[in-house]
Amino acid sequence: MAQLWGGRFTKETDRLVYDFNASIGFDRRLFHEDIEGSMAHVTMLAKQGILTEGERDEILEGLTGIRQDVDAGTIEIDEGCEDIHSFAEAELIRRIGDTGKKLHTGRSRNDQVALDMRLYTRKHVAEVDGLLKDLLAVILAAMEENIGTYMPGFTHLQKAQPTTLAHHYGAYFEMFRRDRQRMADIYERMNYCPLGAGALAGTTYPLDRDYTASLLGFAGPTLNSMDSVSDRDYLIEFLAALSTVMMHLSRFSEEIIIWNSNEYQFVEIDDAYSTGSSIMPQKKNPDIAELVRGKTGRVYGALMSLLTTMKGIPLAYNKDMQEDKELTFDAIDTVEDCLALFTGMLRTMRFRKERMAESAMNGFTNATDAADYLVGKGVPFRDAHGIIGRLVLYCVDKGSSIDRLSLEELQRISDKFEADIYDAISLKTCVEKRLTIGGPGAEAMRTVIEKQKSYLAEESLAERNKTE
Ligand code: ARG
Repeated sequence: MAQLWGGRFTKETDRLVYDFNASIGFDRRLFHEDIEGSMAHVTMLAKQGILTEGERDEILEGLTGIRQDVDAGTIEIDEGCEDIHSFAEAELIRRIGDTGKKLHTGRSRNDQVALDMRLYTRKHVAEVDGLLKDLLAVILAAMEENIGTYMPGFTHLQKAQPTTLAHHYGAYFEMFRRDRQRMADIYERMNYCPLGAGALAGTTYPLDRDYTASLLGFAGPTLNSMDSVSDRDYLIEFLAALSTVMMHLSRFSEEIIIWNSNEYQFVEIDDAYSTGSSIMPQKKNPDIAELVRGKTGRVYGALMSLLTTMKGIPLAYNKDMQEDKELTFDAIDTVEDCLALFTGMLRTMRFRKERMAESAMNGFTNATDAADYLVGKGVPFRDAHGIIGRLVLYCVDKGSSIDRLSLEELQRISDKFEADIYDAISLKTCVEKRLTIGGPGAEAMRTVIEKQKSYLAEESLAERNKTE
């Protein structure tokens, strides 16, 4: 049991207490961030004359060696240590002796862990942003290719009006674009350095917190030391944004599952992204989409869990906060995996365009346009609505559709129908006449696609903030 704080104790910690309290099993993930933070800290301590340059160099060399050895697998992170901070310090002292004992001057594990977690999260906010950008590129490519791919648009999962695949995908483009904006907001708001806050009340050493912040690529230091060690808002915001990403992925997954079903057959998921059944030889299941939909729950769970953990904590640091890690790590892993897999599945999925167009042609998706046609002939909309309603009823009885009725049949219901009705309610007209921005008409779609292309050409968060 290696710990940093034996001095005021007369008894050994109970074994179960030690294990319950230890975090090395999961905070070992923060190893690189911990070393990076320590390096910035000693660099600042030497600049301020708190350590000599010789001491700084000895410590930096020691930390570099530890990092190399852990990366190369020459040494293992010792799970007997209480946490990753204790491991790095103990290993440093083992290597360079007494100088290593000066590393923790003017620092507490409270501001140290706050820094490590921020560095780790900041990196993954940018990572998620990049994965979202990859997904958007696949969506946009499909949009460009499918401006003329007709399909039914639904409300209540009932066929409503015809639209295009480009238009349908465009809706998801908007969602994931907003998710990226959330990442950018979170990045900016969290990008302040808590190191130097000490345990809670700062330190009496003349630390240069601006300098430490700039060494670590932060916009500046945090401005209240009590808040610095106890703020987990940025994690909550990140988990909320990740939950929203999952909600979007889950909706998209659900649609793909429906489209891939035998009844719809709008798409075919690639063999590489499907699985079979152990008993039913004909089966090809959309497991990836189902898993993405299913994993949404655990990301929401992480958000609820951390909100609940934080709700009753008095200032400043309390050990409850150690609970932020496992669930955040799990949520990050889950979302990053889901985004990568979903993007691959989407990229390789085939569209059955004739099936989509055929489906758009039945189910009376042109009923609104038929009513609008009558409005064009001087019938008030509410009356036109009633006439087309009766026409639909007639078609349902006959097992036909509006566009397959003869002009005579149409005129029996309203004498306003003329030969130009057929063109007015063709699938092509129904879609292409919807030209206001945001609609599925080809011209409107092209304008939007151009805008989205220049948006995607902008720098990503990682490109904008090269910190490593
Ligand atoms: N493992 C701790 C955490 O994750 C590190 C901070 C420990 N600070 C303390 N005062 N025990 O929160």
